[in-house]
Amino acid sequence: MQTNNPSASQFPKRLQGKVAVVTGGASGIGESTVRLFTKHGAKVVIADIQDERGTSLCQELLSESGNVVIYVHCDVTLDSDIQNVVDTAVSKYGKLDIMFNNAGISGDTNNTILGSDIQNFKRVFDVNVLGIFLGAKHAARVMIPAKSGVILFTSSVASVVAGETPHAYAMSKHAVVGLTKSLCVELGQYGIRVNCISPYGVATPMLVGAMGMDKKVVEEVVCASATLKGLMPTAEDVAEAALYLGSEEGKYVSGLNLVVDGGYSTTNPAFTTEAKKIMS
Ligand SMILES: NC(=O)c1ccc[n+]([C@@H]2O[C@H](COP(=O)([O-])OP(=O)(O)OC[C@H]3O[C@@H](n4cnc5c(N)ncnc54)[C@H](O)[C@@H]3O)[C@@H](O)[C@H]2O)c1
Repeated sequence: MQTNNPSASQFPKRLQGKVAVVTGGASGIGESTVRLFTKHGAKVVIADIQDERGTSLCQELLSESGNVVIYVHCDVTLDSDIQNVVDTAVSKYGKLDIMFNNAGISGDTNNTILGSDIQNFKRVFDVNVLGIFLGAKHAARVMIPAKSGVILFTSSVASVVAGETPHAYAMSKHAVVGLTKSLCVELGQYGIRVNCISPYGVATPMLVGAMGMDKKVVEEVVCASATLKGLMPTAEDVAEAALYLGSEEGKYVSGLNLVVDGGYSTTNPAFTTEAKKIMS
């Protein structure tokens, strides 16, 4: 998969000398972020449970441009796996500058309280909440002594717009924003910035799987419901937000939930839609 971003050689490398871990880096938003971060000169550790995808992404990046990137198997719900990935980044590359806690799952698609399955609820919270908490904990362990670092999370537009995702997912993504703000306060004294990104619909394997539709149809639904017309939201758009927050350009930004949704969350067209239906 190619990104739409022009070759980094045309631009200053905004992450030159930086070391980043990207969880969920083998697919979707994480994969695009790995590609963009390496283009901008970062050494990147891809942390995921999809070993084949992670390894082949690594090989592609190494052989195409000699980017410095490794894959480490890491289930974010396991403290020991997260500890290992952070320690690997430090032992291989000497430090950790950016910890992007991006791995997440949608869980099952039942969005009624009565239809909610407890095991699904626990799994969504394990990956989307415990996973990012552990990622932040181990990142802070090495960033606090260094007195610098950036911790990023992927939340969702579900953190600002209600009713369009299952309850467990919406709750988990609100929790991401909660940790972002809470941690920003604790870690600011060490010069560590903490931010999250909230994307709208991007037709990644997660969204396509959750909607149970063809990727093209998912993209049509996203475009038709978008506020900003004429553009297809992509994983690269989200990666660009991560680049901004991870780089010097975002050096005074902390505690932010950066919503990347083309304005989707600012409006609720339900009234107009219903009125049009009745009038037609
Ligand atoms: N795609 C969207 O429309 C959208 C919108 C808002 C938020 N998000 C969020 O973006 C993030 C990335 O999702 P995506 O859309 O790129 O989906 P994706 O399925 O393409 O990527 C998610 C990655 O996370 C990995 N992962 C899942 N469970 C894991 C675990 N226990 N340990 C380690 N890795 C694990 C998967 O293997 C996969 O590679 C998620 O947090 C998701 O909630 C996505």
